[in-house]
Amino acid sequence: MLGNFSYLNPTKLYFGEDSLEALKEELPKYGNTVQLIYGGGSIKKNGIYSQVMELLKASGKTIVEDGGVMPNPTVEKLRDGVRIARENQVDFLLAVGGGSCCDYAKAVSVSVHCDEDPWEKYYIRFEEPDCKIIPVGCVLTMVGTGSEMNGGAVITNHEQKLKIGHVFGNHVMPKFTILNPKFTFTLPKDQMVAGIYDIFNHICEQYFSGEDDNTSDYISEGLMKSVVHSSLIAIGNPEDYEARSNIMWTATWALNTLVSMGKSTDWMVHMLGQSVGAYTNATHGMTLSAVSLPYYRHIMPYGLAKFFRFAVNVWGVDTNGKSKEQIGKEGLSRMESWMKELGLVMKLRDLGVTDEMLGGIADGTFIMEGGYKVLTKDEVLDILKNSL
Ligand code: NZQ
Ligand code: ZN
Repeated sequence: MLGNFSYLNPTKLYFGEDSLEALKEELPKYGNTVQLIYGGGSIKKNGIYSQVMELLKASGKTIVEDGGVMPNPTVEKLRDGVRIARENQVDFLLAVGGGSCCDYAKAVSVSVHCDEDPWEKYYIRFEEPDCKIIPVGCVLTMVGTGSEMNGGAVITNHEQKLKIGHVFGNHVMPKFTILNPKFTFTLPKDQMVAGIYDIFNHICEQYFSGEDDNTSDYISEGLMKSVVHSSLIAIGNPEDYEARSNIMWTATWALNTLVSMGKSTDWMVHMLGQSVGAYTNATHGMTLSAVSLPYYRHIMPYGLAKFFRFAVNVWGVDTNGKSKEQIGKEGLSRMESWMKELGLVMKLRDLGVTDEMLGGIADGTFIMEGGYKVLTKDEVLDILKNSL
């Protein structure tokens, strides 16, 4: 049975080839000084930077540049972004990039007018902001995280070997996001497929939990089928607009929290992946792909009915003459073949993980309680060993 909930997603989306034009409509709504947030330079190479600059200048904004946001943004970079915003008294944060830039913008937005250290307040004590929040807008160039339409902001503290996500409320979510599928054409293949697996796993995290008959699971199966279908077209032709636009739209749906309404969720693959990320700084989607199959094979006996359903409804496994367990296993094997076809990283060793790191990674893994099996620390370690 669906639990009770209220749902509001305040992010306005502009989707399509001409969607950047929406900046003309959106920018006048916010103050004069804009902090332009971007990553390591891809937007300068592919021309998105100059298009955004032109629109910012045309709207008469004072532009404060804040480039160099790294994949898996660090707490040091967050503190630097807060300093830039304070020194320039910025009114608006415009993130142009992937999940890292969007997450970072949200983390800066709640920290500029906060007297306390943001890492301690938001990532260790998980408190909510009680200060003025600077509004954020996003122009998405890398698809996967769903950060464009949610309150998530993941920050990495290398010194403490922790990568932690805080999911902020509606008031921190982007005011608007621009989604132009063509902006994703220049992504390197490994980033494209890492993003595709991130999407797929966000859906899994919300699907592999609970045993009720609910609408969310039907929506999730449709989203999973769509991303598998489009991914196979996109790896053959990265400039297939239809496939790239379907992938972009599915990513947003996968984590704008709609499919989790009224139901329990898992998130253990992400907890494992984030701890791996804290040790290796590896690409987020690849940390997930490396731990997924050992995790799902471990929990399948505890949630067999859902794994059976997954095999049949998502992967089209023929049920004739087979036990539920055989069917569930076959579903996971089909998923494994698809992951290999995409070229995802399937082993932690390929991300630089060593035997010596496993104990620390297990210690840094938060244990969630919404999945089919609440893991013990020993089980976490076993899953990591099987992923190595
Ligand atoms: O930095 P630049 O030079 O821009 O290059 C980036 C970066 O190296 C490149 N890139 C992005 N758009 C491109 C492009 N290269 C060529 N053409 C383009 N159009 O791609 C690389 C990866 O970018 P990044 O933003 O780091 O990737 P992603 O979108 O996967 O974001 C990862 C971060 O988001 C967090 C992850 O943990 C990680 O820190 N997540 C955020 C979530 C949320 N807010 O809800 C949930 C996710 O599960 C995830 O944890
Ligand atoms: Zn993710």
